[in-house]
Amino acid sequence: MKNGYSFSQRLVHWLTLLVIIVVYLAIENRGLFERGSDERALVMLTHFYAGFTILILAIIRLVLRMTNSVAPIDPLPPVWLQRSAMLGHVLLYAFLLAMPIIGLVMLNAKGGSLDLFGVSLPSLWPKDPEMAEQLEELHESIGKFGYVLIGLHAVVALVHHHVLKDNTLTRMTRGR
Ligand code: HEM
Ligand code: HEM
Repeated sequence: MKNGYSFSQRLVHWLTLLVIIVVYLAIENRGLFERGSDERALVMLTHFYAGFTILILAIIRLVLRMTNSVAPIDPLPPVWLQRSAMLGHVLLYAFLLAMPIIGLVMLNAKGGSLDLFGVSLPSLWPKDPEMAEQLEELHESIGKFGYVLIGLHAVVALVHHHVLKDNTLTRMTRGR
């Protein structure tokens, strides 16, 4: 059993942070460009592709999680904190999987599709404006919840490091 995350787990964790920043920056700044302009299309494509990358990274992470073992945090936090961390991580994984899938289905329901290396990804849903509208609301709500979830996650990591003075953060920065 190793006392920190493996190099590949750390790489994928911090890559996810970088890509999620691109996902949010792109979508939050789409209003800077006029609807129908090339710039707006580019910003939206950036959101779609970065969002899709999150899905791929999440799947890789889950496989790495299942094939790597990490020793408990040292010193061990109280049980309630360990349980909350587990819940937080499950919610983060659910967020990383659900957002891109909802986004893709929404895009299909709007009548659009995503091209990968010139090949259109198979449509997950037929054109359905009503469904697209409902999914957009869901995508938006979970997107806002994501800010809270990720913010809380980062703050808790810093509390572990500076207040509880355990090795939680260094397991994810320096690794084993
Ligand atoms: C982790 C991944 C993702 C996150 C965190 C995310 C987040 C967001 C957020 C915050 C919005 C703005 C909602 C609003 O204020 O109206 C949005 C809109 C949208 N997203 Fe995503 N998204 C992700 C992945 C995707 C993917 C993979 C696609 C499609 C391939 C997608 C398609 C869309 C579309 C079509 C909109 C509506 C944009 C508009 O009509 O102006 N998203 N997303
Ligand atoms: C400044 C930002 C961030 C910091 C400081 C941070 C820090 C950490 C630390 C220290 C851990 C290890 C926790 C433990 O061993 O119990 C961790 C795990 C984790 N982080 Fe982050 N993180 C950040 C951003 C993110 C983002 C953006 C996501 C995804 C949206 C994310 C998702 C996760 C997940 C799912 C785990 C659990 C890993 C596992 O056990 O499989 N983190 N993070």
